[in-house]
Amino acid sequence: MRSLLFVPGDSERKMLKAISSGADALILDLEDSVALSRKAEARNTVSAFLTDTERGTDTPLLIVRINALDTGLSDDDLAAVISVGPDAILLPKAGSGAEIQDLSARIAVHEAEAGLEDGKIRIHALMTETAGGMLSAASFAAKSERLSALAWGAEDLAADIGASSNKDDNGVYTDVFRLARSLAILAAANSRVDAIDTVFTDFRDLDGLDTECRAAVRDGFSGKMAIHPDQVAVINRAFTPPSEDVERAVRIMALFAAAGPDAGVLSLDGKMIDKPHLRQAERVARMAGLSPDAIPSVS
Ligand code: COA
Ligand code: MG
Repeated sequence: MRSLLFVPGDSERKMLKAISSGADALILDLEDSVALSRKAEARNTVSAFLTDTERGTDTPLLIVRINALDTGLSDDDLAAVISVGPDAILLPKAGSGAEIQDLSARIAVHEAEAGLEDGKIRIHALMTETAGGMLSAASFAAKSERLSALAWGAEDLAADIGASSNKDDNGVYTDVFRLARSLAILAAANSRVDAIDTVFTDFRDLDGLDTECRAAVRDGFSGKMAIHPDQVAVINRAFTPPSEDVERAVRIMALFAAAGPDAGVLSLDGKMIDKPHLRQAERVARMAGLSPDAIPSVS
């Protein structure tokens, strides 16, 4: 997943537009982009959209952002959408791994009631929107098989800690928010799931978005959330590894495959190659979406 486009859950018009945006995933939002008075209507709209959208290999993944577990709204959100099979639920303001377990159990109940396969619906979590979530970063590991991505958010964290802005006068994230970004990378790696970068809110500034995407790729993020369809192509381009990187990754994997399971250090084009290079090559192959047939297996 390179691009994940947010779509307000009460706007069928935007959902229909988003489906052909080229995004790898849509996040149908029942939380902050929907006013309290419109939550019920949004649940119906999202549920109908999930029902009516034919899913094929080219369809974006359909993710639903529910309301936080302590709002009293999330059970109604789950009741409205699980039976119509979203690919994943995005949990905002996730406070700890225990909340992931709690959510997983709730999803399992709805899956069973709807006769759906147990465990098919994944969980993504926004884990830096509260001070508690940040301080519990390590707790997200191995709490549920469903957890498949951790993302960071800067807007709600500002509200939680009482910061009047998340950026300084030069437009650079201040320390707490840089820490949030770093913790998302670390927590995702520690949990063996994808790290997803936060939204770039100035949606007319595509050059600024591109710069932020390149930094995200460099630092270990697998994808980035978007708020506007125009952002999707920029994100997809940045998170698609260049063909020379993919070719090199395949060569590294082939070298290790040929050397067998006991291979330690090898050489390629006069440079030393060892296990971290192999892990990096596997990551590039995953990001390029290579089919398993194209990947030499190291056994
Ligand atoms: N998904 C799908 N379509 C979208 C979209 C989105 N996220 N954002 C904009 N569009 C559509 C608009 O509806 C418009 O289509 P139309 O001309 O057929 O009506 C077209 O793209 C161009 O939109 P534009 O005029 O440039 O922007 P806007 O002023 O209509 O919308 C926002 C700006 C920020 C309100 C809108 O981008 C949006 O709703 N973003 C998502 C917000 C969100 O979900 N936030 C929660 C997470 S932070
Ligand atoms: Mg929010």
